[in-house]
Amino acid sequence: MMKRTLTTLLAAMIGAALFGQVKVAVHENATDQPVIPKEIYGQFAEHLGRCIYDGIWVGKDSPIPNIDGYRKDLVEAIKELKVPVLRWPGGCFADEYHWRDGIGPQSERPKMINSNWGGTVEDNSFGTHEFLNFCEMLGIEPYISGNVGSGTVEELAKWVEYMTAKGGTMADLRAKNGRKEPWNVKYLGVGNENWGCGGNMTPEFYSDQYKRYATYCRNYDGNRLYKVASGASDYDYNWTKVLMRNVRRDISGLSLHYYTGGHSTALDFGEDEYYNMLGKAVEVDEVLRNHEAIMDLYDPERKIDLLLDEWGTWFRVEPGTNPGHLFQQSSMRDAMVAAMSLNIFHKHTARLKMTNIAQMVNVLQAMILTKGSEIVLTPTYHVFRMFNVHQDAISVPVDVPDDSQVSPSGRIYPELSVSASKSDAIHVSLANPSVTKPKTVELEFDALKPSSVTGEILVGKGKGIEAVKSHNDFGGKTEIAPAAFKDFKTSGRTVKVTLPPASVVVLEIK
Ligand code: AHR
Repeated sequence: MMKRTLTTLLAAMIGAALFGQVKVAVHENATDQPVIPKEIYGQFAEHLGRCIYDGIWVGKDSPIPNIDGYRKDLVEAIKELKVPVLRWPGGCFADEYHWRDGIGPQSERPKMINSNWGGTVEDNSFGTHEFLNFCEMLGIEPYISGNVGSGTVEELAKWVEYMTAKGGTMADLRAKNGRKEPWNVKYLGVGNENWGCGGNMTPEFYSDQYKRYATYCRNYDGNRLYKVASGASDYDYNWTKVLMRNVRRDISGLSLHYYTGGHSTALDFGEDEYYNMLGKAVEVDEVLRNHEAIMDLYDPERKIDLLLDEWGTWFRVEPGTNPGHLFQQSSMRDAMVAAMSLNIFHKHTARLKMTNIAQMVNVLQAMILTKGSEIVLTPTYHVFRMFNVHQDAISVPVDVPDDSQVSPSGRIYPELSVSASKSDAIHVSLANPSVTKPKTVELEFDALKPSSVTGEILVGKGKGIEAVKSHNDFGGKTEIAPAAFKDFKTSGRTVKVTLPPASVVVLEIK
């Protein structure tokens, strides 16, 4: 008997090694699990390159079809994503932005030089009204990033009043500019990267600045601000520690930024760089854990949320484009980073309540690329659309065996990424990053005997490394688009799925 068990175990191990088979336990009956807040699927739009102008806004007189100046094709595409929250106007731009320049008749608005991003002249034709109306039209919660680096307390306080108060001088000015009713503005970032482009401050100095600015940003007429302190970058645990120690009240969230950089352009990489990048991307798991541990020390009741309000891939710009405009292509590699990152974020939602991928359109790991009247949906867009079934669902724990690999230059990356949630159905999202090996995954539920399974797949085109380089481009090149997924078998409490190399799959199981 003992001999048979050992033989079976050995066979399973050999099978796993040879055929890439793993068992994943899905605990759909686990209780007291956190919700995956929809805000985990947040986005970011900065006055940078062609994100706002050409991307979101073309103006009412543009030959490009638009709704009151907003690109129609973008509006339609964004609706599908169910974007819950959008951070604006920066980024580094936020700490040089003076909101009064962006109100009133567009032709009279002063021009400024966007010194952070390529020295481009900013004509301020997209300002507070244009942003908040865009959010309102799409049912997106606005996240305003305020100027602490070069703006005054009074300026930020008045901006809040302008947007949210029913009466008073600011409300009168707003009405004069065409908007009588205040908007609802919940999220207010008090500065951005104040350790760097937001004023090169120490955490001690910024903590005090935070308190000054936050004090005067008031709640008007039922609007309740959720104030976010500007947080650390990557591994700067000291910033989080000092902020948590010094800022004890009038704070709802602390931010964090984490980018996955590459040495070349988005489409120019080999296998080693690919796996290295995945390794760097999934290291966000450890980075989040470390920041969370510090927050737990100072705030064991988890009253202050963690917001990863900038993340994504950051490559060299596309040849021939302004280096300050951060325009990069987006391939199946980016889709893999998106899927694996989102699967990680789902595990952190006891503390992590929002993330904002950088950025919505034409900048860094964009959902959408535009050129003239053309629009391209990137592989990252498709991941966000496929994964939005997890928004506001209850997190379902999964036990994924450790199958970490080491890239030739020593980065650790997993060969399988999985997460699950429960709403009207169980949704399981899986990614197989290997460019050569398919992966068979046996999902085993606590009790559920699935009676219906459907799925969608996003898979790289071509073989080997070419699969993760595949992408969509202008001129109708569409290599990556979701398709129905059928490669699974159901038996009792298990669903056996075979993931082709370089693929992302989302299953709906009832
Ligand atoms: O997203 C691009 C830039 O990256 C942002 O402006 C800044 O906050 C970060 O360094």
